[in-house]
Amino acid sequence: METIASILSLREHLGSKASVALVPTMGNLHDGHMALMKLARAHASTVVASIFVNRLQFGPAEDFDRYPRTLTEDCAKLADAGVDIVFTPDESELYPAPQQVFIEPPPISTDLCGAFRPGHFRGVATVVTKLFNIVQPQFAVFGKKDYQQLHVIRALTAQLNLPIEILAGETLRADDGLALSSRNRYLQATDRAEASRLFRVLQGIKAAVAAGAADLAELENNAKIDLDTHVWRAEYVAVRERNSLGFAGAEDAQLVALAAAWIGNTRLIDNVEIDRGAGAV
Ligand code: PAJ
Repeated sequence: METIASILSLREHLGSKASVALVPTMGNLHDGHMALMKLARAHASTVVASIFVNRLQFGPAEDFDRYPRTLTEDCAKLADAGVDIVFTPDESELYPAPQQVFIEPPPISTDLCGAFRPGHFRGVATVVTKLFNIVQPQFAVFGKKDYQQLHVIRALTAQLNLPIEILAGETLRADDGLALSSRNRYLQATDRAEASRLFRVLQGIKAAVAAGAADLAELENNAKIDLDTHVWRAEYVAVRERNSLGFAGAEDAQLVALAAAWIGNTRLIDNVEIDRGAGAV
């Protein structure tokens, strides 16, 4: 595996490659990331993983400074997984000058997580567009764990006519259901024991919808109360139409329940896809 930090050198390495799949990450890799590498491996002869903690997508009071940086361990995992190239630019490589040109993501980017993280998706869309331009992959892989992010990236790829196929990886979970996340390492032991409630609450919504519950607002509200009466501070629980992330009409069958909530000083997100009319789960 080659570890490459400069754009020029990456371009030289990739010049002759037949098909390339890119997996963008911020590092501190876990099994969820590694499943994306596997998906990439199945689609292209050359797999590029990028590791870059993107300041542009963090708010001023967010965890950019304390975000875990574990490059040595990450590279060992990537080499084991058969990744060909890890691209590890530093800030001066990706942002040689203060970034003044941004990708404006679609209006849904100010809803759900975007309502609580102003500018987040603009930062994601901008860095992902840069990575797409630098690597010029035929495939790029993203996780459903960050469902709204996946939606924004699909939209930007389609609307900017980028010749890239976006592949979506399923969410990997710990045994108790907690979605794997680099941020789980912030959790204190008692909070870690409680953390799987987020997934259970979403599963509860899925079961209720499958059993015929039609009042989505009531389900959202009850789920929020469940979190808030335990140790959580819920930002939102929302049941949406899965392809648009807009409000679901009675006729929509493809839904997704999404949530963001704080436990201690850690913000966790999760989501569960729901097929209305699919029967009991
Ligand atoms: P990061 O949080 O490192 O996630 C990198 C990729 O891993 C994302 O596509 C994310 O959805 C996926 N992922 C995270 N946890 C997962 C899990 N439990 N199961 C499956 N996939 C999972 O998302 C980012 O970085 C950044 O916003 C980035 C796209 C790299 C832009 O900076």
